[in-house]
Amino acid sequence: MNIAVFGAGYVGLVTAVCLSELGFRVQVVEKDRHKLNRLQAGISTIYEPGLQEMLIRNLSEGRLVFTENGPLAILKAEVLFVCVGTPSRPDGSADMSQIEAVTKEIVESSLDSGYKLVVVKSTVPVGTGRWIEKMSVLYAKGRKANLEIASNPEFLREGAAVKEFMHPDRIVVGVASERGRTLMEEVYRSFDCPKLFTDSHTAEIIKYAANSFLATKISYINMVSDLCEETGADVALVAEGIGCDRRIGADFLKAGPGFGGSCFPKDLRAFAHVGRSYGLNFGLLEQVMQINRERSQRMIRRLREQLWVLGGKKIAVLGLTFKPGTDDVRETPAAAVIEALLAEGASVLATDPLGIAGFRAMYGNLADRIAFAESAGEALLGAHAAVIVTDWDVYRELDWAGVKDGMETPVLLDGRNMLDRAEMRRLGFAFMAVGR
Ligand code: UDX
Repeated sequence: MNIAVFGAGYVGLVTAVCLSELGFRVQVVEKDRHKLNRLQAGISTIYEPGLQEMLIRNLSEGRLVFTENGPLAILKAEVLFVCVGTPSRPDGSADMSQIEAVTKEIVESSLDSGYKLVVVKSTVPVGTGRWIEKMSVLYAKGRKANLEIASNPEFLREGAAVKEFMHPDRIVVGVASERGRTLMEEVYRSFDCPKLFTDSHTAEIIKYAANSFLATKISYINMVSDLCEETGADVALVAEGIGCDRRIGADFLKAGPGFGGSCFPKDLRAFAHVGRSYGLNFGLLEQVMQINRERSQRMIRRLREQLWVLGGKKIAVLGLTFKPGTDDVRETPAAAVIEALLAEGASVLATDPLGIAGFRAMYGNLADRIAFAESAGEALLGAHAAVIVTDWDVYRELDWAGVKDGMETPVLLDGRNMLDRAEMRRLGFAFMAVGR
């Protein structure tokens, strides 16, 4: 089967490489010249375990091709995956202009040709499939494009994207015709997992509803975490206690600095916007976002409890990426923590194994006002306190006894509950964890 993938962003690149690994012939259409050059040279544009090797293998074996020639890829392909970005607009709604542009290109290149299945993998508001159908008629200008639109949301997690693509919990496909369904069954034939075939509206809602629900779990436990701090309870045990109930489940109940990344914040805003646009009360999601925004203030308050005054003090921030195992800093909680520290007049020295370059590029304004250290050891030297924002393994393995001696005052806020409390206190740290 010939497949075209539009957009070599996170979802597009992983999808394309994995589909070629499954034996399909895949053409990836990418308009960004810089990105295209790198991909054609066999260099992955994102960091994702396993992806680089697979990319080179499939490229050299000819199953995977990167091109800017949309019309040619469309001509050849029977199934076309749309994986372009849907960033947030200022009002929180999803910006659909890239999807619109791909729709136009697909319609114009498939006039009077055979049946093609257009599969939307980008996270999109409910009703997008219908819009694509409507626009297809307009762009066809009275001629016929034999297109069917399907929705196939992606649930990949960064850092485990290849593994999760190849071994998904479930596949969700919103498709109307038998023909379209058969094609999608063929694409995912080798996967042994529940496959849910629905209408396109349902599939579109499943994606937003899943991400919003997971984000809600995190804000919920963060809210409980604050109460645990006030009362001397332990949020990790509370999470374990409630997570054993199979109806609740143990995952996504880790208290911390709040969720970030390219999906949760954006999808929450978009889902809340969708709800509002139908006149519905989606205030629950507004609260989830509000709790998340307040996490950085909570951390400042904890630091103040130990340090009295933050102004003029040097604070080491360990971790800039939104979670470990990635170089992605989009909507990272580290940015909010650094902003709050600067507002207190503290001086910040930040470090991260993979995220420094990305942080500099994305948060230039903040980056100009702080200093960066290559290693945690360097960041901690002479610091009055350290805050762990991302739970990188290297921080677990640090020589904390040595680190303590080099600090000005040994105050440590473990924002991810990754270190052994008793041990850190034994070493002489004024140690704070989250929610315990
Ligand atoms: C998420 C969804 O999990 C995935 O299904 C979807 O396709 C894209 O969005 P991702 O953004 O890669 O994936 O990261 P994830 O591992 O889900 O973590 C998101 C954020 O929540 C991170 O900032 C993480 O640190 C935080 N988190 C996660 C917590 O604070 N506590 C938890 O218990 C879990």
